[in-house]
Amino acid sequence: MSAKLVTPSEEYKDSFIEALREGFKRGVETEKTEEEIAEIENDFTGYLEKTRAQDQSGTILCPDGNTYERVPSSDYWLVLDDTFIGSISLRHRLNEFLIQFGGHIGYGVRPGFRQQGYGTLMLRLCLDEARKIVKDTRALLTCAEDNTGSRKIIEANGGILEDKLDFDWHEGTVLRYWIEL
Ligand SMILES: CC(C)(COP(=O)(O)OP(=O)(O)OC[C@H]1O[C@@H](n2cnc3c(N)ncnc32)[C@H](O)[C@@H]1OP(=O)(O)O)[C@@H](O)C(=O)NCCC(=O)NCCS
Repeated sequence: MSAKLVTPSEEYKDSFIEALREGFKRGVETEKTEEEIAEIENDFTGYLEKTRAQDQSGTILCPDGNTYERVPSSDYWLVLDDTFIGSISLRHRLNEFLIQFGGHIGYGVRPGFRQQGYGTLMLRLCLDEARKIVKDTRALLTCAEDNTGSRKIIEANGGILEDKLDFDWHEGTVLRYWIEL
């Protein structure tokens, strides 16, 4: 059976928790502490609900210290049978922050499954979803200049480099890529 994208669900709880203990994180997130993991484990239904609640409107405090409109998003997990491999978030549109940093799509592969092509596959499958959901004709992806794995994933999926940006609130240069939808 090959890996597929699914909506986060209870079915993958054990494997997801195992991934968090392995140090799984997405993009600019920090690794979860044992205390945070235990909280997620004890109320996994609540955790999934919170993940889904991010689809709601309102505002969000971004890493530059400013508040922006919260855009709708969909989270997917890449799984193989009942094993959680990685997670990818699709923002349905951009706001003033995301157009500079973050873009339409952010992802992470759990440490034990890296460098096996799953990151490249996960973005390819997510672009298929983006073609159904995103109204723009192209998707923006951003990554740190020194993140070789992420750069290769974006380029393998047709990413065309737009520019390189530096921010006073973020360490290192950020690359912005467009992918045709
Ligand atoms: C970046 C990340 C998603 C890569 O996932 P992955 O499953 O290892 O990616 P792939 O296996 O599809 O690798 C794609 C290419 O990058 C290369 N690669 C992956 N990780 C690499 C690394 N750390 N150093 C150098 N090359 C790397 C692979 O060898 C492969 O090269 P190839 O196409 O020439 O064969 C994963 O390391 C991760 O989750 N990191 C933490 C979160 C993160 O950085 N998210 C992206 C934010 S923009």
